[in-house]
Amino acid sequence: MSERSRVLILDFGGQYNLLIARRVRERGVYCEIKPYNTTMEEIRQFAPSGIIFTGGPSTVYEEGAPKCDPAVFEMGVPVLGICYGQQLMTLMLGGTCKAGQVREYGKAELWHNSSSLLFEGVRQQSVCWMSHTISVDQLPEGFVTSAKTKDCPTAAIENPERKLYGVQFHPEVMHTEEGTLILENFLYKICGLSSEWTMAAYSKQAIEEIRQKVGNGRVLLALSGGVDSSVAAALISQAVGNQLTCVFVDHGLLRKDEGDMVEKIMGEKFDMNIIRANVQDRFLTKLQGVTDPEQKRKIIGEEFIRVFEEESRKIGAVDFLAQGTIYPDVVESGLGKSAVIKSHHNVGGLPDHVDFKEIIEPLRLLFKDEVRALGLELGLPEELVWRQPFPGPGLAVRVIGEITADKLAILREADAIFREEIANAKLDRDINQYFAVLTNMRSVGVMGDERTYDYTLALRGVVTSDFMTADWARIPYDVLEKVSNRIVNEVPHINRIVYDITSKPPATVEWE
Ligand code: XMP
Repeated sequence: MSERSRVLILDFGGQYNLLIARRVRERGVYCEIKPYNTTMEEIRQFAPSGIIFTGGPSTVYEEGAPKCDPAVFEMGVPVLGICYGQQLMTLMLGGTCKAGQVREYGKAELWHNSSSLLFEGVRQQSVCWMSHTISVDQLPEGFVTSAKTKDCPTAAIENPERKLYGVQFHPEVMHTEEGTLILENFLYKICGLSSEWTMAAYSKQAIEEIRQKVGNGRVLLALSGGVDSSVAAALISQAVGNQLTCVFVDHGLLRKDEGDMVEKIMGEKFDMNIIRANVQDRFLTKLQGVTDPEQKRKIIGEEFIRVFEEESRKIGAVDFLAQGTIYPDVVESGLGKSAVIKSHHNVGGLPDHVDFKEIIEPLRLLFKDEVRALGLELGLPEELVWRQPFPGPGLAVRVIGEITADKLAILREADAIFREEIANAKLDRDINQYFAVLTNMRSVGVMGDERTYDYTLALRGVVTSDFMTADWARIPYDVLEKVSNRIVNEVPHINRIVYDITSKPPATVEWE
């Protein structure tokens, strides 16, 4: 990768910022999101080949509206302003904006002026996604308009000589039909970048960096068996071999055979130092009589950290604590402040009593799809790399009411059958998350000639790209029928099965 093959995304608070970054990376160009008020010194040091201004919730004339350093325009680096970004560029360069007659929201027909490099190869008329109340009125000197919609004569503006471009619509949103090509034109034709950000290149570079940083030091990592911690472990292990020790806390709330699979793949195939703490009973004791979902989560989170600390104390002082933090975690924790719906205790939460000097987070700049690609690159098996998300508190939030060993055993068997049938139906890549929930409700049934009074099991399947919103998966009836028949026949104490048909919101993905 050449030194300057990178794009800077200046964040003005828009809701699609992560999406812009993903789209850029999908085009094979490395990018990072930084706050709008990043200093010029830091920007110069980052040395971007192109800059994108995101949209944002403010209006440019508002008091305290976010502005970047005007010196950005003097760097000679191409800039693409999106929505608020376009308006801000206009204002900062001497143009004006005004409220339109009509507030545009949603799909709009876009016509462009075909001589613009930004629109090269783009159909003259296409659909774009708009969301704004004000738009550019008088252009700054040297600018021309390059696209319009029915209600917005300045849907795109540009000063090609200075390589400054602005679009009022959102090219990053799927509904903008030609959005990908427009972004490609900006990256490849205007910034002169090429598609060279690959996981093979990243892997080489990251391994080298980890080696340099760690030297002869020792690294400790909490392995959960999830995609992120497993890929982080594989990467660090390739860099520093057995200087890495992984602690795998088996809290007994994992799915069927999961603990053994993790131990087998990572311990045997990858030959890592793994300490498996079999503390199932300890967690069950702590959870005895607890029914409140938040309390369950808190107990598990705290206990997890305690076990991790105890195990690490046995190893002695380490130099580095490794975590599988990924880019959306970094960006989201740095920005939005939303209400706590559920407290997440992710494996890898920071322990208070582990003796280490520094944290290493080798996936900190990667999106989930990149983490998966890196995992495959490092030789991790598909079954691990393509695992669906699994909550830190595990099956505890899928057994409603009090958790007992018996209930966990019932749920584990039922969930395994559901997952097996989804895989048999080749739906496992289409449904983003699917699992069984053991409700706390019992009802009357009949089996043979006998009356039964047993549990109701719920099946859940969701389709989503970000897990912040989700739709329930339309699993074919014949698949559901097969799952239902198999579970009631093969798993004792379940005599009724329901399928959850609520989306998120108003429901959440997990039941607790
Ligand atoms: P909810 O239930 O909040 O779930 O709609 C959204 C996604 O987050 C996962 N989830 C968790 N992941 N620790 C995690 O690492 C947790 O405590 C946790 N709780 C929920 C959930 O499985 C879904 O993918």
